[in-house]
Amino acid sequence: MGKQAAILKADGLHKAYRMGTARVKVLKGVDLTVREGDFAAVIGASGSGKSTLLHILGGLDRPDEGTVSFDGRDLSRMRARELNRYRNEMVGFVFQFYHLLDELNVLENVLLPAMVSRSIAGWFMSRRVARRRAAEVLEQMGLSDRARHKPYQLSGGERQRVAIGRALMNEPRLLLADEPTGNLDSTTGNGILAVLERLNQAGQTIVMVTHDERIAARAERTITLADGKIRE
Ligand SMILES: Nc1ncnc2c1ncn2[C@@H]1O[C@H](COP(=O)(O)OP(=O)(O)OP(=O)(O)O)[C@@H](O)[C@H]1O
Ligand SMILES: [Mg+2]
Repeated sequence: MGKQAAILKADGLHKAYRMGTARVKVLKGVDLTVREGDFAAVIGASGSGKSTLLHILGGLDRPDEGTVSFDGRDLSRMRARELNRYRNEMVGFVFQFYHLLDELNVLENVLLPAMVSRSIAGWFMSRRVARRRAAEVLEQMGLSDRARHKPYQLSGGERQRVAIGRALMNEPRLLLADEPTGNLDSTTGNGILAVLERLNQAGQTIVMVTHDERIAARAERTITLADGKIRE
């Protein structure tokens, strides 16, 4: 098989945070290429900058220096509308602590990304399609019988599957998952990993952050973040 096309490319990423008068340098020149169909694990100690890196790749934060490009398009040169489209449609983001809305049930949480960026009228027209897609995602995540549950009525593993389902709602080209197994016991964590492996086998490109070497070993590529730089 030939080399797959690069979809995401990071070049020379630097990021520092100001804490009072101190400046903490988190990323000090990170280069990274993600190819179509990749299943890559980013590993590193707590505080090494894994979440920071993933947020920058997903267009949720900006680097101080360096560029991220998707399909050859530099995120920093995108207009607000295009960047929003990138965040909402090209990328699916699974956050470190689920970030589900407790007031909404499972189905509504999964539907959320389809409602964002649509006008009321547009939503009215497309909601049947969106509901069909949401039902498909819930089925895929084994959550069909949990659609009316609220997040607080779910187990940790189920919540994480809702979060993954929500990230998949808009059929993103790239799935970014921050510690998807982090808050789960090892059996439940393995279940989530199996879900990600199945998605990847079906062609989904995935970048997953983890601090667990055994989890990382299951991905086909391991990228280590240490001292603000990447080792592969
Ligand atoms: N908004 C912020 N303001 C100040 N410092 C921050 C901010 N976000 C992150 N940091 C600091 O940057 C460093 C990297 O944080 P980050 O969350 O990226 O680490 P991580 O590798 O994801 O850690 P963990 O494995 O614990 O999730 C940490 O020292 C953190 O305290
Ligand atoms: Mg983190």
